[in-house]
Amino acid sequence: MNLQFEEVIATFLANEIGITTNFISPQLAQNLIDNLIKFHSENKLFDAGIGVKTDFHLDNLYRKDKILWLNKSVFNIFEMAFFEVIDAFVLYLNKTCFAGITNYEFHYALYEKGSFYKKHIDQFSTNSHRAYSVIIYLNPFWKIGDGGELIIFKENSTETISPILGKMVFFDSANLPHEVLETNEKRMSITGWLKRN
Ligand code: OGA
Ligand code: NI
Repeated sequence: MNLQFEEVIATFLANEIGITTNFISPQLAQNLIDNLIKFHSENKLFDAGIGVKTDFHLDNLYRKDKILWLNKSVFNIFEMAFFEVIDAFVLYLNKTCFAGITNYEFHYALYEKGSFYKKHIDQFSTNSHRAYSVIIYLNPFWKIGDGGELIIFKENSTETISPILGKMVFFDSANLPHEVLETNEKRMSITGWLKRN
């Protein structure tokens, strides 16, 4: 696991975007996909909103994904395994980079065909607790032409990231605008934020 963590941190320091390809095992990824599909069939996912509390609104010209927050108090063995990896990563990040992460939040995200998320940053104007964005992709058969790439806009260049199973992306929530291109196939992920109080 430490090799993956090292790779995330090294690529982040070199390039502002941390990336590793096997952040979670294929087996755990498959279990999380099964969870997502099951929860979706039970109508547990809901249209994602924009902003927090007072300025929360739905705007499906802006984003069209459906989400479900992971909740540790609803015991799910695969989510517990996922959080074990996240806990280990946070520990590693805090120890090696003094990141000062104190908590986090994660949700499943499902982009059905035709869905997208327009250019945005992940930090709310009213609240700066979100320090780092983390996305883990759950698409075993993604190929060029399927769409749904993540585009990250750096100061002088843009990066295009394919949402392939097991890949993890890590970046500063406050600084990097990004968007999800329209997807031509179902696109699944777990997205979250590492937070500081
Ligand atoms: C987000 C987001 C990117 C992705 O949920 O805020 O930008 O690739 N997701 O899913
Ligand atoms: Ni985002």
